[in-house]
Amino acid sequence: FHYPMPANEPVLQYAPGSKERELLKKAIAELKAQTADIPMYIGSKEVKTNKKIALHPPHEIKHTLGYFHMGDEKHVQQAIDAALAAKNDWAAMPWEDRAGIFLKAADLLATKYRPYINAATMLGQSKNVFQAEIDSACELIDFLRFNVHYLSEIYKQQPNSAPGMHNRMEYRPLEGFVVAVTPFNFTAISGNLPTSAAMCGNVVVWKPANTQVFAAQMFMQILLEAGLPHGVINLIYVDGPVLGKICFNHRDFAGVHFTGSTGVFNTMWETIGKNMANYKSYPRIVGETGGKDFVLVHKSADVDVAVTALLRGAFEYQGQKCSAASRAYIPSNLAEKIKKKLIAGVNSFKMGSVEDFSNFINAVIDERSFDKIKAYIDGAKRSKKASILVGGECSKKEGYFIQPTIILAEDPKYVTLCEEIFGPVLTLYVYPANEFEEVLELVDTTSPYALTGSIIAKDRSAIVLATERLRNAAGNFYINDKPTGAVVGQQPFGGARASGTNDKAGSILNLYRWLSARTIKETF
Ligand code: ALA
Repeated sequence: FHYPMPANEPVLQYAPGSKERELLKKAIAELKAQTADIPMYIGSKEVKTNKKIALHPPHEIKHTLGYFHMGDEKHVQQAIDAALAAKNDWAAMPWEDRAGIFLKAADLLATKYRPYINAATMLGQSKNVFQAEIDSACELIDFLRFNVHYLSEIYKQQPNSAPGMHNRMEYRPLEGFVVAVTPFNFTAISGNLPTSAAMCGNVVVWKPANTQVFAAQMFMQILLEAGLPHGVINLIYVDGPVLGKICFNHRDFAGVHFTGSTGVFNTMWETIGKNMANYKSYPRIVGETGGKDFVLVHKSADVDVAVTALLRGAFEYQGQKCSAASRAYIPSNLAEKIKKKLIAGVNSFKMGSVEDFSNFINAVIDERSFDKIKAYIDGAKRSKKASILVGGECSKKEGYFIQPTIILAEDPKYVTLCEEIFGPVLTLYVYPANEFEEVLELVDTTSPYALTGSIIAKDRSAIVLATERLRNAAGNFYINDKPTGAVVGQQPFGGARASGTNDKAGSILNLYRWLSARTIKETF
């Protein structure tokens, strides 16, 4: 069975009066009218506990969407047991049948559940309609379909045989269970991490971020409706250290598929390293972590291209993308023009609830994020080395709202040029237009991360030089575009250095990590 390269799922526009807009509005109203009671999914059971945690839209914290049931160590153990019990039948299922389940889930997302998964992402994660559509609909659907394609490409790769023998490769799942630990900021990433491993025949324990449970459990239900056998993916809500304590101590632990902070990923490596002697095999440790993504503007740049890359790159989804533009290097010859247009752009953004589709900016995910982001903004207000160019207002009265903020730094090592903020904050540094080589060095060495970055230039020699010198500064490098918005099948996504293991989500490289090949030689 070979599944050809699919087309990307088309992005719907939700124009006023359109059918899709009407269905989405209806789904939002339905989800808001109910109080969801969200269980964990362990084996064939929906598990409830006596510890319930309330879910609120980050932009409307007085409203309660529902409650999810928080688990403990015992539930982690039960999830591992359920996964291991499902393992043999799942691994033995013919590939075309396994693939059929994920392709059906993609179709359910594309049609019947599209308004609901988008509504859940909008309400639960405070994404505007466009950001939800490109994430929980298009990107998640693409991950499922493209991964089926890439995996069928892998399975057909077979070695040569000389006369008198028959050689073959068997692409086995890993021996044991895989842990997926997923972030709040993309429903697509949250869905991709458990399914890419499961598609390869693995069984999975999946822990989403608490702030993404609303959409995560909806996706789990869609997988079950599509025919995923019970126990293949077990969805549990537990604290990270509780998960780590049980999973990373287990003899059958085979790997972790992670997206989240660099600090948490480092702790995972340490814990796993300490337990190496306990495991049957070396675990696969795959992670996409932080970023401090740059936009480097050259003196030859088209000012409007630069401004659009900066505004969209920095502020879409409130800057809560690991790929978000958060430091910009602006040449002195264009600085005044760019600053003026950035100020006008920020002042034109409407901020508020996701239910008003004209709001470009919504809330940041939770109070902890709000406080952290605000502290960087307040620091810039007080600093002698930086000033606020535009924005800077913050309020958590109705929801966690932070005005898109641009900081102007005088010092190229000012803190907001170096540290990941994960919010709607962009820092500009103006460099002498003729010191391009020096600024390349600055871009490369200012942060420990290497996820995404952009060069904005018309001069081809500047593009060539930047592409070469910044070879290790970004896993996804964009020329005359924003550094966000990678499309599955078009720009495989991931970075190295402190940004992760660069196993490129939504690509053939990622799927290899969930397989353990056996070479078989038969002699006649
Ligand atoms: N894959 C996401 C992007 O490229 C994070 O913006």
